[in-house]
Parts: sequence; structure tokens; C-alpha cells
Amino acid sequence: MIKTADKSAELMEDIHQRYTEMGQDPLVHLEGLKYAKPITYWDYCEIDTLLSLQKPRTIVPDESVFIMYHQVNELIFKMILSEIQQIADKEDLNAHFFTERLGRINRYWGILINSFSIMKDGMETAQYLKFRTTLTPASGFQSAQYRTIEICCTPLENLVHQYFRPQLSENATLDEKLSKIYWQAAGLNFKTGEKNLTLQLFEVKYREEFLRIAHDYEHKNIWAKYIAIHPDEQKDQNLIKALRHLDEMVNIEWVMTHYHTAEKYLESDGNTTEATGGSSWKKYMHPSYQRRIFFPKLWSSEELENWGRN
Ligand code: HEM
Repeated sequence: MIKTADKSAELMEDIHQRYTEMGQDPLVHLEGLKYAKPITYWDYCEIDTLLSLQKPRTIVPDESVFIMYHQVNELIFKMILSEIQQIADKEDLNAHFFTERLGRINRYWGILINSFSIMKDGMETAQYLKFRTTLTPASGFQSAQYRTIEICCTPLENLVHQYFRPQLSENATLDEKLSKIYWQAAGLNFKTGEKNLTLQLFEVKYREEFLRIAHDYEHKNIWAKYIAIHPDEQKDQNLIKALRHLDEMVNIEWVMTHYHTAEKYLESDGNTTEATGGSSWKKYMHPSYQRRIFFPKLWSSEELENWGRN
């Protein structure tokens, strides 16, 4: 009994201190507690809102699978970004914390890769080919969270299109690097400078934000955080393993799973159909063409040469 009274006095003291620090009257807040509604599962998780966000454009049933799986992906991208932010903002970062948080990120990527069969095997090709025509020019290419994950993992020069990397000056600004980013190849005609609608709409909406994120993460992206920890900690084999695993999962395994799914729906008898985003996807999407590698210094020259080829 005495223990409960002590605990309750301590709690009141803490509440008093917290609200006074905010310039608020703690007694008003305590009064409010008397009338608070009990929390429920459906309110806390916003279930009604969540379940109202699926709005198919066609009468084809498998379109719901497509929409919901993309939404699940975006939620997991958000979980990944939250872990990246924790690493980025950690001041006294050490190998133990770093490895543990990378483990979480890698677990999320594992889920994304393993569940991609929902796209590849979980829809009828005939149904997909019907509803996809209503989606043009939208494409997963326009996933801003996916791009943000990339920008937060590695220095921007590692995302510059491989053909422009050798020409990049040492003083190139983040703005210049962003203009030569690898994903431009999906929608830009390098000869005429013309951009397709998918890319144009994407840039109008997000380019400024990507530039802001690139500045924000220039010195706190995953690689920058790694080279800033103590040299002895950098040698931690579990940490190196986790970084390599992340690079491989994002830039080879997910990419290949996605690529094989595109092959299933968009290629038959050697004929390739144009995707909703209008890219020359067969070439563009392959990791050996894109050669985006977050942590090139952690791979041997042979591994780099064979990137995405095995
Ligand atoms: C049947 C399922 C899918 C097919 C056939 C497919 C196909 C494609 C194709 C062909 C592209 C190249 C750009 C274009 O021309 O549109 C692309 C890009 C992309 N898609 Fe998908 N996709 C599928 C599902 C998904 C899912 C579930 C996600 C998760 C968010 C996703 C995310 C992306 C991303 C991030 C890109 C850009 C990749 C890059 O720039 O290398 N896709 N997709």
C-alpha cells in the first residue's frame, strides 16, 4: 500500500514537472483525464481510415491485391526510414547499436523480397493486363519513399548514372548530382533532353524535397555514419556483414525479384510490352545496368565487376 502511495506521489511529481516545463497547468490536464474516452484498437490503429484507402479504378478483382500490396510496401518503407533516421541522428553511435538497427532494416527488406511473390504469383496475368491500362502513366517508379531510402543510405554520387560518374567534377553540387541520378534513365531521352510524363510529374512533385533530403543526409547517410565511427568499431565483422547484406538485398535481390515479376506480366514469346511508366524496362531495371551500389568500398573489385550478374 505504502509502495503504491510512493509510486503515485513520484508520478504526480513527474507529471507536474513535465507540464510546468511546457508552461501548462498540470491540474487542468489531470482534470481532463477524468473525462477521457477509453482507447480502442480500432481508434488507435485508425482501422476505418486504413480500410477506406483502397479505391480500385476498374471492376477487375485482382486490382485490389495490387493496390493493397503497394500500400503494404509503403508502410514498410516508412518503417525502414524510421530506423535509418535513428541511426542518422544517433550521436554516440557504436558498432553494436548500428548493427542492431541495420538488422531491423534488413528484416524489413527480407519481408519485402519474400513477399513479392504476392505480385508475381498472386494475380492472374489476364486480370493484371486489364487493369494496368488504366494506370498509365503512374508507376512504382514514382515511389518517393523508395527514393528517399536510397538518398539516406549512400552519398549521392553513388546514385549518379554510371555513364556520368566519370565526368562528375569533385565540386559537383548535390543539385547537379540529382540531375544526373540513375533513375532519370527510365524517363529521359538523353539525346533530345525530353522527359516522359511519368518523370515530369514525379520531379514537379518531389525534386525540391529530394534536394532538401540530400542536403540533410549529406553527412549523416548510412555510409557517412559508418566512416565516422571509431576505426576499431568500423572493423566489426557483424557490422560489415549487415551493411553488405543491406546493399545486396536492396540493390540486387529486390531489384531482381521485381524484374522477374515485370518479365512475367510484360513479356511473352520474346515480345516486350511497354510498362505503365514508359521505360525501356528490360534494360533499365537490371542491376548490372543500373550499378547502384550503396557501399562500394565494402566489395572486392571482382564482386563489383560482377554486380547483379549471378
Ligand atoms: C505486377 C507488379 C509490378 C510490375 C509488373 C512492375 C513493373 C515495373 C516496371 C516495368 C518499372 C520500370 C518503370 C516503368 O516503366 O514503369 C517499375 C519501376 C518501379 N517499381 Fe514496379 N512493378 C510492380 C510492382 C511494384 C511494387 C509492388 C512496388 C513497390 C512499391 C514497385 C516499385 C517500383 C519502383 C520503386 C520502381 C523504380 C525502380 C527503379 O528505378 O529501378 N513495383 N516497376
